Amino acid sequence: MAKAEISLFPTPRARVQAMKEYHPPLGSRDALRLDFNENTHACSPKVREALSLITAGALTRYPEREPVEAIVAAHLGLAAPQVALTNGVDEAIHVLFETFLEAGDEVLLPVPTYTMYEVYASATDATIVQVLAGDDLQFPFERLLAAITKRTKIIAIANPNSPSGSVATRQQLVEIASRAPHAVVLVDEAYFHFHGETVIDLVGVVSNLFVARTFSKAYGLAGLRLGVLAGPVESMRWIRRVLSPYSVNSLALACLPPAIQDAAYLDWYVGEVVAARTEFEAALDVAGLRRWPSQANFILVDVGSQHGEFVRLTRASGVLVRDRSSDPGCDGRVRITIGTREQMRQAVVVLNETVAALNVGGKMQ
Ligand SMILES: Cc1ncc(COP(=O)(O)O)c(C=O)c1O
Repeated sequence: MAKAEISLFPTPRARVQAMKEYHPPLGSRDALRLDFNENTHACSPKVREALSLITAGALTRYPEREPVEAIVAAHLGLAAPQVALTNGVDEAIHVLFETFLEAGDEVLLPVPTYTMYEVYASATDATIVQVLAGDDLQFPFERLLAAITKRTKIIAIANPNSPSGSVATRQQLVEIASRAPHAVVLVDEAYFHFHGETVIDLVGVVSNLFVARTFSKAYGLAGLRLGVLAGPVESMRWIRRVLSPYSVNSLALACLPPAIQDAAYLDWYVGEVVAARTEFEAALDVAGLRRWPSQANFILVDVGSQHGEFVRLTRASGVLVRDRSSDPGCDGRVRITIGTREQMRQAVVVLNETVAALNVGGKMQ
């Protein structure tokens, strides 16, 4: 084959060529996983039971999501047409952006925030407008309001936010929705269970409000890829035109009802995390590391310029944490997922050894 022919690969859209590569640092995670904000323990045993009952014959059929959507909708206090199951919240974000964004539109993002908003927005012809939080990493409410324009089409707010753990109040979210009536306001409640406050009851009441929930965090089903997007019926009709009818597979659909029904298990896990969060915050204070208040199952911690070495050393001691230094306004910061109390006591030992080895503590004392 001639050389010229070899280089004739199809050219992707210019926007795709301009996208940054995003490789979450997965791989060799056989350790205490405090790097991806997953459930660090297990899913409900009821889910394991449901999985064991799946027959080979059942796998030959395309998945039917509507019956499970009705169960999830009832659980959330919504009507079935207001709810779509998705392949994780990531698919919900992707489909929402694909449904609403045109060239010239603006996607408003308070940053630092969840990476996939930028990834999916970059793949569209819209413009990303970032609103940087201050040093306290609190939700930049006033600046976000000031950044709303006629072109604002989507405002994506993780509540609680990652990697900061900060929250927006219900009043602030309602105000944002009313000041941008022409825009979709996505409130991503991936970490809802560790915070306990929600605006899901306003779906269908506030006409431009969408809420996303995931089963990857508190429920411990990240591997099954299950999310929910809830919005007004009129808008969900458009979403369903873009959404694949089969993107939630039948194993995930079989596991969802038992996961939801086992409230005792969820309460136990969330209770563990919330108690462990308080203990771990105290340990960070004793170590003299600056931390940001968090309503989620993780804490952002300032370890300074040796952040890379910090992550490497904790990994060598069997604890994975996530370097967030390249996030806007997060230089020198690592994010540490909160697991059970027992796991976090183990993590504190490694944390203290690492702090001593690198001499990075003492800033708060
Ligand atoms: C704010 C936020 N939304 C969504 C997700 C992804 O959720 P899912 O696993 O359901 O795609 C994450 C994962 O880290 C997240 O932090």
